[in-house]
Amino acid sequence: EAAEKGGFEHFMLKEIHEQPDSLRNAIRGRLDFNLGSSVLSGMGTSARDLAEIQRVVLLGCGTSLHAGLVGEYAFEDLADIHAEVQQAAEFRYRNPLISRSDLVVAISQSGETADTLAAVREANQKGAFVMGLCNVVGSTIARETGRGVYLHAGPEISVASTKAFTCQVAVLLMMALKLGRGRRFSRDEGMRLAQEIDAIPQLVERTIEQNDRIAALAERYAASEHAFFIGRGYLFPVALEGALKLKEISYIHAEGYHAAELKHGPIALLEEGTPIIALANDIPGKDKTLGNVEECRARGARILGVVTEGDKEAAEFMDDVIEVPACHPLVSTIPSAVALQLFAYHVARIRACEIDQPRNLAKSVTVE
Ligand code: G6P
Repeated sequence: EAAEKGGFEHFMLKEIHEQPDSLRNAIRGRLDFNLGSSVLSGMGTSARDLAEIQRVVLLGCGTSLHAGLVGEYAFEDLADIHAEVQQAAEFRYRNPLISRSDLVVAISQSGETADTLAAVREANQKGAFVMGLCNVVGSTIARETGRGVYLHAGPEISVASTKAFTCQVAVLLMMALKLGRGRRFSRDEGMRLAQEIDAIPQLVERTIEQNDRIAALAERYAASEHAFFIGRGYLFPVALEGALKLKEISYIHAEGYHAAELKHGPIALLEEGTPIIALANDIPGKDKTLGNVEECRARGARILGVVTEGDKEAAEFMDDVIEVPACHPLVSTIPSAVALQLFAYHVARIRACEIDQPRNLAKSVTVE
């Protein structure tokens, strides 16, 4: 097993470090810089079919659900298509309104999650255009959807998902680019976005270079029993994912909130030193998030901010800072998530937790 971990102490740390390569594999050959679009042959549709799509419904559980939440913004903002995310178990039992012009994207690393599979069957039953976004080749969801896009992230062993998440987001951005090019994007705009997507592996490399710094920061938070992650817009799903990572592996009670929701409850829980992890990258909504950070500080919270490299203004609001490279706002979800993966990992390591196999959790949930 030590050999399989390639010199890393845990599979999770190995998989975090593999992300630049996983992302390269997920992206390779799928961007067309000439057309300013993406080539996702697995979507298996003609331009005309794609033009008929009126809504995108994204399904998933756990971390895959969080990737879907980023996808929701991507399809609406890049492709002008109404998009919504549904938790797969909710979808399967609620008698969802689905039509033939709906594109249903089932997101699942393993391709075996029981609720996501049942949701796929329900969507097939209702005649939707169903697609899988899986990592495991030949998995049940990949087979039953019949079309889709593989992540090519490589095997993910750690129960807490890392590289699958960032590859899911990258693939969703490429899907949104493809649909966007068929609708509102000019060739130039498409090319610019394709370049931004192509640069993702380097952005992640630069984030991972901060591993030692993040490990040192983690020392200051590892004794906490509660933590709140906040973000807005594209970074709201990242706040949810950051909190999930921390709670899964460190057993710290961690909650992700939309920054605007703080005032509607969680702020009542703040005490001297309560950690707030604020996603405050330089994207629309940053100023509002900084306002919320200020409110938390006034109540004694300790703030760890994820900010854009060189953003001194944002850094001043924080007690501690992790910098991520400047990039397209939607793309920034990826390096930000990687920073929070490393943070969760180091907190859990300091707390001597069972990182790769947290208690009560399974890699693949094949029962309801
Ligand atoms: C389990 C795993 C998570 C994963 C979720 C969905 O809870 O521990 O890491 O995000 O299942 O799994 P899937 O394979 O469908 O992405």
